[in-house]
Amino acid sequence: MSQNNVIIFDTTLRDGEQSPGASMTRDEKLRIARQLEKMRVDVIEAGFAIASQGDFEAVKAIADTIKDSTVCSLSRALDADIDRAGEALANANSGRIHTFIATSPIHMKYKLQMQPDQVVENAVRAVKRARSLVADVEFSLEDASRSELDFMCRIIEAVIDAGAGTINIPDTVGYAVPQEFGHTISQLLNRIPNADKAIFSVHCHNDLGLAVANSLSAVAAGARQVECTVNGLGERAGNASLEEIVMALRTRKDVMGLETRIDTTQIVPASRLVSSITGFPVQPNKAIVGANAFAHESGIHQDGVLKHRETYEIMTAESVGWNTNRMVLGKLSGRNAFRTRMEELGTTFSSDAELNDAFARFKRFGR
Ligand code: KIV
Ligand code: ZN
Repeated sequence: MSQNNVIIFDTTLRDGEQSPGASMTRDEKLRIARQLEKMRVDVIEAGFAIASQGDFEAVKAIADTIKDSTVCSLSRALDADIDRAGEALANANSGRIHTFIATSPIHMKYKLQMQPDQVVENAVRAVKRARSLVADVEFSLEDASRSELDFMCRIIEAVIDAGAGTINIPDTVGYAVPQEFGHTISQLLNRIPNADKAIFSVHCHNDLGLAVANSLSAVAAGARQVECTVNGLGERAGNASLEEIVMALRTRKDVMGLETRIDTTQIVPASRLVSSITGFPVQPNKAIVGANAFAHESGIHQDGVLKHRETYEIMTAESVGWNTNRMVLGKLSGRNAFRTRMEELGTTFSSDAELNDAFARFKRFGR
């Protein structure tokens, strides 16, 4: 895989399902997984195998079916979790165990009630156990953005030595800001002696609306996997949105110099499928997949787009799977858009006066 490729790890079926009210059945998850595979997502996090019998069955069904994407199960750094994940992934063409433990002082003290040394010991044991079941192991430092840099360096060096091929740096609580988060990634890459033996990944939550910006800052600093979800679904305010990450990298390749394997024309079908299955509507002004993302109503914009699309569009609607851009006729619309739509509907005007008269009547209705 080229140095310029960013691995897209989709966690709609795991972190996305952690949105209150977004739970999905095994068959619904399988339908989404098929669409993610069609979209050429690199890694599908199918669930948390030990969480419930339903989760186990969903991860297993996806691992048994999906051939072109890696299928992953989450597990805490506990033997039983790791074994259950391994069991669910047994038939996967390409399976990954994703194990995690919290590394911030606040989580270690109050949640885990463990000393830092014990956390390192548990992490190393978990990675070794996962590696005894699958070749592809990811390790996450939960609450990394509130963890101490020296401690992160220490635990990451140890888990890479133990066999983790991907190191994920989550902004679990959506606390990071872009410049700081990118700097953390650079420091980790520069300071950890065996950092070149693993791919660094990020997983950002959107509590301050910065999940996509933080992820992009991290890839600019050298991260080469981004964890994200369709429509930005996820715990609390959600995760970094897959469609925004992918289209930002594609549209601003001139600045970022990076690419993904995603078939972007499958983005809107994936968005619609996730929305219809979870019952979570997509806001109309949502970037890329919102109903208004490629709609123009003001006369100045409509006129510009009709003359030359790129005046007001930085990517095409078709490139992300919409049929076309949309001219919405309303009180702000202009004569050019009105005439174009009337012509599409089969009405042509024999003179400018006739067009002006019809346009004036239309504007009276548009108020
Ligand atoms: O937000 C988070 O820290 C997570 C980890 C389990 C990766 O979802
Ligand atoms: Zn998360």
